Amino acid sequence: MTMNIDYLAAPGVRGLKPYQPGKPIGELARELGLKQIIKLASNENRLGPSPKALDAIRAGLSEIALYPDGSGFELKAALAAKLGVEARQITLGNGSNDVIEQSAKVFLSPSHTAVFSAHAFLVYPIATQAVGAKAEVAPAHDGSRGPRYGHDLNALAERITGQTRIVFIANPNNPTGTYLKRDELGRFIAALPTHVIAVVDEAYFEYVEAEDYPDAMEWLPQFPNLIVTRTFSKAYGLAGLRIGYAVSSTEIADLLNRVRQPFNVNALALLAAAAALTDDAHLVHSLRLNRQGLNQLGSAFAERDLPFIPSVANFLAVDLGRPAASVYEALLRQGVIVRPLAGYGLPNHLRVTVGSAEENRQFLGALDRVLAL
Ligand SMILES: Cc1ncc(COP(=O)(O)O)c(C=O)c1O
Repeated sequence: MTMNIDYLAAPGVRGLKPYQPGKPIGELARELGLKQIIKLASNENRLGPSPKALDAIRAGLSEIALYPDGSGFELKAALAAKLGVEARQITLGNGSNDVIEQSAKVFLSPSHTAVFSAHAFLVYPIATQAVGAKAEVAPAHDGSRGPRYGHDLNALAERITGQTRIVFIANPNNPTGTYLKRDELGRFIAALPTHVIAVVDEAYFEYVEAEDYPDAMEWLPQFPNLIVTRTFSKAYGLAGLRIGYAVSSTEIADLLNRVRQPFNVNALALLAAAAALTDDAHLVHSLRLNRQGLNQLGSAFAERDLPFIPSVANFLAVDLGRPAASVYEALLRQGVIVRPLAGYGLPNHLRVTVGSAEENRQFLGALDRVLAL
């Protein structure tokens, strides 16, 4: 018997389109029977995690019959020491996605709006709509007053009303790789009305080497309405374990904790993240490979007259000058998974994650073959 259940869902959920992740390698292997596949589709770290994190996971395996420490005491202590904040200001998440959703649950309801930019990370509209709130999307820069496709802070400010409770800002943004400078973002947050929470999503923080890129955590003592989110999924190479965190005033941390699932972060993730924080050399190595990979891909795109959005993160969005969906599909048949960006309002762009030098070469070879078809 079939039955229409859809109408029973909460109104926000009824209209939701699920987040489309990068295609998993196993799925492509099943679909096309390919053996050699490279995935440059989800901004993971090609170098993988620190060996210290892997050791910590092995050592922790015997404990997995027990629930994890729901308060994440050890990891919060390590993060607090590293970041120069109090442990009470930290909220751990099952990926930073989790703390982004917690923020939406705490501050948004059907009478509220969340403001964010066009081409911003797609979890913001999902988190907003899932709690029945309304999304206000500000146009991105057109290139005349800021980096094309980047967040336009004036446009964001214009959409803030008495109903707004959250402004989501990805710095740098995914999938554009654009970033906001210290002065402009600092001024923007300082000028926010006190009823608006700024969620500054720094998922790619560790990768950014630009001198004028801000560490939003430095502003926490001034702004009780600021949440900064970071993750171990990207530069720390722990995407598969799902662990991220928010840092905020203790008042906000207390609110986030009220909606946090008990034991939301698993035991191995807690151990691996704490160990990863002790391995600066691995992080430095990751950043060096990323810089080289960005240069390799950027010069190759330039040689091919393919415009790309300058990126400070670990991926590049390249403009193919024509609908990218068919190129994406043809690349899949070549065993290369990248990310089409039509869902982000960029139908002619593909986003490619920086891989190893060899993977970047393979991707470029496959792209040449596909574009020559
Ligand atoms: C801008 C941004 N924020 C947050 C996330 C969430 O990552 P995670 O939940 O793995 O921490 C991502 C992942 O792609 C991202 O690109």
